[in-house]
Amino acid sequence: MCNQPIVLFDSGVGGTSILKEIAELLPHENFVYLADSQNAPYGVRSPAEIIDLSIKNTELALSMKAKIIVVACNTATTNAISYLRSHYQLPFIGIEPAIKPAALNSEVKRIGVLATKGTLSSELFKQTSETFASGIDVIEVIGKGIVEAVEGGWTSDDGFVEELKKQIQPFIDEDIDYLVLGCTHFPYIVPQLKKLLPAHVKIIDSGRAVAKQTQHVLKENHLENPSTKKGKVEIFTNVDNVVHIKQLIKGIPNLSVNRKNF
Ligand code: DGL
Repeated sequence: MCNQPIVLFDSGVGGTSILKEIAELLPHENFVYLADSQNAPYGVRSPAEIIDLSIKNTELALSMKAKIIVVACNTATTNAISYLRSHYQLPFIGIEPAIKPAALNSEVKRIGVLATKGTLSSELFKQTSETFASGIDVIEVIGKGIVEAVEGGWTSDDGFVEELKKQIQPFIDEDIDYLVLGCTHFPYIVPQLKKLLPAHVKIIDSGRAVAKQTQHVLKENHLENPSTKKGKVEIFTNVDNVVHIKQLIKGIPNLSVNRKNF
């Protein structure tokens, strides 16, 4: 069981930002990553559709002998993780916008959250926000066209950067000091965000916290791989974006990226 893979899934290539963090922290584990780019973006879909897609990905993960599943997608976590946890036996790790550290550390008590419509309108996000950000102004912006740009590889195009500038203006107007990236695709636009936001704004994502949580859950369930060799990292995508994925996540050892219908 211990050498079975940790399986991650996302609506596309974004969750590879989480895969990188986990593979770096747990280099002896084997990983499978399922990029459901064919159905991206999830963020504009109904909760019922997001649950159905999450079930499809989970069934494939189980057929690949997952020992745990990381839902490397805020939108799928906030809409589907309670369904998955109540219908399947194995442990699930979810990812949610890192509101808690931003709220705790904000000096001006104003933080921004950039996420998908599906995440920002979910019950789980509302609860997390109420629990960890009471007394803090949370400026929420639905990121439009960002997932598509990361999927398509045009995040450096002038047209996209212009559009992004307009979208994040509320963060500048409200003078936030922390920006929470509530979508796993968004770490791939950090260079653009840094150029557009005032220098004092700190940008945070949930990658490191999810990697640590994965390590903790493996330990707790006695599922750590005892191997001393570097593990394998296999990515499967259901559209023709193998080259794009390889460019996005250069530097991971023992990596293979292949197309598969699912
Ligand atoms: N990467 C995803 C997230 O973290 C999904 C974005 C989308 O497909 O809309 O929310």
